[in-house]
Parts: sequence; C-alpha cells; structure tokens
Amino acid sequence: MSQDKLTKIVSLCKRRGFVFGGSEIYGGLSSVWDYGPLGARLKKRIKDVWWQTYVEDREDIVGLDSSIIMQEGVFRASGHLQGFADWLVDCPKCKKRFRVDKLEKKDIDLYSCLDCKSDIDIEKYKPRKFNLMLKTNMSATEEDPYYAYLRPETAQGIFVNFSNVMNVTHKPLPLGIAQIGKAFRNEVTTGSFIFRMKEFEQMEIEYFVNPKEAEKAYEYWVQERLNFYIEKIGLKKENLRLREHDKDELAHYAKGCTDVEFNFPFGWSELEGIANRGDYDLSEHARVSKKDLSFFDNIKKEKYIPYVIEPSAGVDRTFFAIISDAYHEEEVKGKIRTVLRLKPNFAPYCVAILPLLKNRPEIVELAKKVFYDMKSQWPAVYNDTGAIGKLYRRQDEIGTPFCVTIDVDSLTDHKVTVRNRDSMAQERVDISKLKDYIAEKIKSY
Ligand code: GLY
Repeated sequence: MSQDKLTKIVSLCKRRGFVFGGSEIYGGLSSVWDYGPLGARLKKRIKDVWWQTYVEDREDIVGLDSSIIMQEGVFRASGHLQGFADWLVDCPKCKKRFRVDKLEKKDIDLYSCLDCKSDIDIEKYKPRKFNLMLKTNMSATEEDPYYAYLRPETAQGIFVNFSNVMNVTHKPLPLGIAQIGKAFRNEVTTGSFIFRMKEFEQMEIEYFVNPKEAEKAYEYWVQERLNFYIEKIGLKKENLRLREHDKDELAHYAKGCTDVEFNFPFGWSELEGIANRGDYDLSEHARVSKKDLSFFDNIKKEKYIPYVIEPSAGVDRTFFAIISDAYHEEEVKGKIRTVLRLKPNFAPYCVAILPLLKNRPEIVELAKKVFYDMKSQWPAVYNDTGAIGKLYRRQDEIGTPFCVTIDVDSLTDHKVTVRNRDSMAQERVDISKLKDYIAEKIKSY
C-alpha cells in the first residue's frame, strides 16, 4: 500500500461525495473535513452498528449523550490542562512546525526536519509546549472572558456523570457507559486525510469494574474489539493486528493500553485504543469536585472506587479503514475499473435503479415503481443521468452491490437485469422475485 493509494482514496472520496475539505470555498481549514451525502450515510451506519452491538444488545452497558463544552475544572481534574500537550519546534529553514517526538534524531539536541531535511538544533530553536485542547470564551465580552473547553475525549462526559447514571439505573457493576460524540484536538501533525483531525468523532465505552476484576475485563475488551472489526465491520483479518503499548508510551491516566491497528495506506496505525485507566479519573474527579464517586456493592458490602476499562474507537478512522479495505482496482477491457467492495450494509446504496431509456414514459414509470419497491427495503438510488456504462462505473466507485436496469423488454417480459458489482455478471430476474433475489445474494457477503 502506498501514498499513491492514499491520493486515489482522497480523490474518490471527494469526487463521489464521501468527504470534502472543510471550509473549502474559503481556502480550506487544516485537518478539518466535511462528510458529503454518501459519507454521511456510511458514517451513520458505523455508529448504528456500534450502538446496536453495545447499547441495544447488551444489558451491562447503557448509553449517554453528554455535552461537548465542559468546564475548566473537569480538565484540571482529568490532567488534560497540565499534561495534554505536545512539544513543538519550527524548522528555521522551511518554517514548518513539527512535533519534536516525530522528528528524526541525529545527535543530542540535533534533529532533522521532516520536510526540507535541514538541521534543527533544539538548544537554539527552543521547542514550545502547546496544549492540544481547544478553548472557547463563554462570556459575552472579550474583556471579561470565561473560558471553557471543547472536550478532547468523550470519556470525561462519562466520568462526570458516573454517579448520575448509577443513581438512575440502579445497576450493579460491572457496568459500561457508552457514548458517541465529537471530540476536539488542536493537532499539528497533518496530512493523513481523516486519520488525524482537529474535530473528530469517538465511540467510547467506559466499563466500570471492581478493581479485582479489571485485568480480566481489559483482556476481554481487547479481544472483543478486535472481533468487532472482523465480524461486525467486516475488515480483512490480515489488515488488523494488536499492539501493546510500552510503559513510556502510555497516556497520563493509563495503567496499560493495547491498540487495534489497521494497515492504512500509509502503514500500520492505531484504529482504536483499549486502555486500563485504573481509578485515575474517578479518584481525581472525586478529589477535585469533592463529590463521593465511590460505589457501594450491596451484596458483598464492599465500597470502592471502580476501575475503568476503556475501548475508545474513532468513527472517522473506522470509516477510513472501511474505504481503504474495500478499495480495489482492476483492468477491464484495457481500462482501470475502480470498485469499492463494501459490504452491502455499509454501502451508501444497496441497489441502484437505472432506466435505459429516460424518454420513454412507460419505462420511467416501471423504473420508479421498482425503485420505490426496493427503497422500502434497502437504501436505493435512482439514476438516469448518463449512458449505462458510465452509470455502472459510478455505482462501482461508490460500492453499490446491485444495479438494476429496466429496458424495453421489461415492459413485456416483466423482467429486469441485475448486475453484480464484484463479478460484473448480469442476470435477468422476474420483477416479482427481485426482492427475494437480492435478499439471497446479500446473505453471501
Ligand atoms: N479516551 C481516550 C482517547 O480519547 O484517546
């Protein structure tokens, strides 16, 4: 996999309406991206599958939807105000800004610029510490500011609501609190498409357990989350692996962490982190807020601050992994055909209805009838804006598994042609059996 593949994916995403550059008509905004009509569909599917798996299908996890803007006190307690920062240095020659830990080290205090390769002597060009949190002024005036922060992780909304949730659910531990939502980080490392964004979306579970059971729960969640990507998202096994963090790599709150890594076009990188955060967060929030955040186990008559195991997934990274995994090029009759081999449940459209003659009212009428019939069961699209070859290529590029064409013969034989995205094979199918035919084919994915 290569930079070339990355460029092609970015181009396809823009061309077909999956992902656009943020604020593009004003020249863009670094590391900020917008999801287009198809991207919004795929993104929602990812979130739906996650929510269904963990909140709807389980009894030991409940959902939450807490606010993005949070008080300064939250981040004083969480350690983000003090510890969530990068050391940055500007290259004296090309003026680009880099994280010191990402530069190539040549000697003590001497690094090489990642872009223009000139020397950066950090003794001379002192690195500066930049906090990664985005700050906002909630006061009505600039003179008398009241600063709050956009959360850098959805997790903090869960910790500050821990006792609220325990009080209303009356559930025993272990109990998970799950949340999907936006988080913000003022990242300086740019250029890997939606892999590292300043505004991104997380799917996090804080799974609260008795400290004695934390290690077992941690191991369970590492395997569970790896399996989720294989079984529920359908990523190829060979593009996934687990990587345990070294001690010096751990976040300030973590006792242990394992990443689920994916083989992105630029190499193996974190898709998700599963951390054992111990009792760090609840203890610190209890200390700073002076609220009791301990749990009393009524059966064992035991009081303790729970440990928390955190599987923290990125919606955008999962989106990127799905597109990257599905991206496929092949030569057909001397031309390159680009296909997204998406699973039908993630394809923005499952079926495309393509009338062959848009000027024949009877064909249009029949095509519309088939379209509404399909749409009542699967996401479907109607398209008559080009020649059939071009329409097929367009549907291939957005990953539509089935194209249904309606032609003159359909008016008399009541059959349509179904074209399979992956094999390009075409079959004539009776309109009355079309739903059963597609339902059967979907089962084989
Ligand atoms: N909550 C973990 C993270 O945002 O990385």
